[in-house]
Amino acid sequence: MILSIESSCDDSSVAVTDIATKELLFHRKISQESAHAKYGGVVPELASRLHAVDLPKLLQEAKPWLDDLEAVAVTNRPGLSVTLLEGVAMAQALSIAKGLPIIAVDHLKAHIYSLFIEKETRFPMLVLLISGGHTMVVDVQSFERMEVVASTMDDSFGESFDKTAKMMGLGYPGGPIVEALAARGDPARFDMPIPLRHSPKIAFSYSGIKNAVRLLVEANSPLDEKTKADIAAAFQQAAIEHLLQKCKKIFQRRKPKDFAIVGGASANMAVREAFVNLCGEFGATLHLADLRYCSDNAAMVGRYAIDAFERQLFSDALTIRVSPRSEL
Ligand code: KG4
Ligand code: ZN
Repeated sequence: MILSIESSCDDSSVAVTDIATKELLFHRKISQESAHAKYGGVVPELASRLHAVDLPKLLQEAKPWLDDLEAVAVTNRPGLSVTLLEGVAMAQALSIAKGLPIIAVDHLKAHIYSLFIEKETRFPMLVLLISGGHTMVVDVQSFERMEVVASTMDDSFGESFDKTAKMMGLGYPGGPIVEALAARGDPARFDMPIPLRHSPKIAFSYSGIKNAVRLLVEANSPLDEKTKADIAAAFQQAAIEHLLQKCKKIFQRRKPKDFAIVGGASANMAVREAFVNLCGEFGATLHLADLRYCSDNAAMVGRYAIDAFERQLFSDALTIRVSPRSEL
């Protein structure tokens, strides 16, 4: 069995996975969202202190499995250094106390593996990763060969939802709040620019939409409920249309048979619907992670770790480091 730990941002999570059967034996997560909500975003120092309180509680709950572990896996990149360190410190302690090898896990690769929790690994796959920190398309040929095909030049998809919510005073995280509001709004009331619409560039950009939202908020303040919903709807439609336009270009070139969307923002129903249509148009099969595994969790870290364990990709407790950068 592998015990896995996730602390790259504002979720503390621990899981235990059976290596041979891939069964998820234990999985718990404590989200810090409500603690950060009043600041409109994640406060790193607060997040770090909360991980230091919550991770040991989760480890305590995993006690029935602690004597049967063969490895401990931990997210060590990318993310906030001060929060990654909390998970890594716990992994180091376990590794030294029990003589276990450590599997260092890249958070973005773990998101890709959220597709395979309690399932077989299935590659090749073209993967759109949309989260709070990243927006990218990755051509995943195998465990060893993952190539970034497109990424964002500025803000990420999820971050643009968070900032839109913050500008309208709606709280954090913005994704689910803006999605719910958008469902009641009229996207046609406001003109929203589609980023890089006339550019041949295969890349994403969300700073332009963010500015457009800021101008609308300023021009219509104080905002009434209908205007908030209409801004949310116009914003969400443009944000998704931009994803679609760029992914369509990638589809035309790569003609993927299997396409997946992962990351916290892949829980968005309007995104899912839009890509059902795009995949239908190109005859590609759309793969999505179970809703409970879209946002950050240790189950996906453990699932990645099984494939790493098979390859004996181990780190040492004394030399493992954290990094703000992904390996991708
Ligand atoms: O993957 P994740 O849990 O953490 C990171 O690795 O960043 O993603 C969190 C991000 C946040 O920006 C959040 O607002 C966004 O995912 N998100 C959504 C939705 N649910 C979460 N964005 C749009 N629509 C949603 N329903
Ligand atoms: Zn994430």
